[in-house]
Amino acid sequence: MKKVFVNGYGSIGSRIIQFIKDDPEIEVIGVGKYSPDSKVNEAIEMGFKVYVPEKNQNAFSDFTITGNIESALDQSDLVIDASPGGQGFKNKKLFYEPRDILSIYQGGETIEGENAVSNILFNSKVNYADAIGKKHVMQGSCNVTGMGRILEPLRNTFGNSIKRFDVTLIRRWADLEQTNESVIDTIELTQSPHHGEDVKSYFGRDAPLFVRAIKVPTRQMHLHIMDIRFEKNIPSVDEIHEIFKNEYGIATLWNVKGTKDIRDFAGKLNFSFKDTNMIHIHANMTKKIDDTIQIMYSDDQTGIVIPENHILLQAMLFEKSYDDAIKHTEKLFNMSEKKRLLESNFNKK
Ligand SMILES: NC(=O)c1ccc[n+]([C@@H]2O[C@H](COP(=O)([O-])OP(=O)(O)OC[C@H]3O[C@@H](n4cnc5c(N)ncnc54)[C@H](OP(=O)(O)O)[C@@H]3O)[C@@H](O)[C@H]2O)c1
Repeated sequence: MKKVFVNGYGSIGSRIIQFIKDDPEIEVIGVGKYSPDSKVNEAIEMGFKVYVPEKNQNAFSDFTITGNIESALDQSDLVIDASPGGQGFKNKKLFYEPRDILSIYQGGETIEGENAVSNILFNSKVNYADAIGKKHVMQGSCNVTGMGRILEPLRNTFGNSIKRFDVTLIRRWADLEQTNESVIDTIELTQSPHHGEDVKSYFGRDAPLFVRAIKVPTRQMHLHIMDIRFEKNIPSVDEIHEIFKNEYGIATLWNVKGTKDIRDFAGKLNFSFKDTNMIHIHANMTKKIDDTIQIMYSDDQTGIVIPENHILLQAMLFEKSYDDAIKHTEKLFNMSEKKRLLESNFNKK
């Protein structure tokens, strides 16, 4: 049985470990914690073994920790790094490379320049097979994963008929559980957003994709506004919706007033962490104007990358086919059922 360690227990790490603990094909070694706070006991109560940095073990004397992170890594076949953006690269150099273990990094890292954690940015829909046989792979961020999920079916269906994509990312300020982070009353302008370049790493550097981003004071998801300009063969609104009908991880919803409606529904139906793990096309906002189709979709910031990490783990650890990996991920995440429930609640009426 392959052994997996999750390094970091924040928004992303706490979700990943909660899902992968139910995977019968792997053994979860435990989770890495860095601050001696209430989340240590929360993790222990959830049944996880908690490991802490060797040099800081004394700070955790009030907690029942299992051991140090260094020894947990020694036992692991693969580590999922869920540390704050930029820390993953340092962990790679200090801990993962010297132990020669397979490593997955999150979207706050980079694949460019001297701090690159990998030469591949993963999106299961686009480059699953490229992750097979790789030692270090970066999972795209939530916005990058969401854009890839929408762009790939559009590109496959309409190809050269598309002239350009213009996307405005309206990013959430903080996550639901990041209660120590205040949500400031301003609209923040994102200078040089990385998202477009990240997407181009798998779509090609000359892909006609133009991205701008702002951050707004909400915890309730990201919203992307995308204009797709066509050279020829401009599809109808219905044709656009049709191509997403059977896409994994995309729900088409009608008459949602705001992103909180979706989280509230997920909470009411006891979806884990109130996450849907997908993106939601706001179908009543889709418009055709001359050569342009306008669409809007919301992106479950915390949930969307969790099944992606699980799909990636299967490529790296077991070299499974894409179809087998998706089938296995579906058993843990039930995304088809979540999509069905969302679509029947937010229906066209
Ligand atoms: N939040 C999202 O919606 C989202 C979505 C997609 C991708 N991401 C990416 O996922 C990564 C993690 O984000 P997050 O939102 O989960 O952050 P977070 O909630 O701030 O959690 C970060 C975790 O990393 C731990 N940590 C601190 N130092 C560490 C180290 N040296 N090595 C390993 N872990 C360390 C922290 O431990 P202590 O709490 O014990 O100090 C904390 O548990 C980032 O790259 C981020 O860009 C986030």
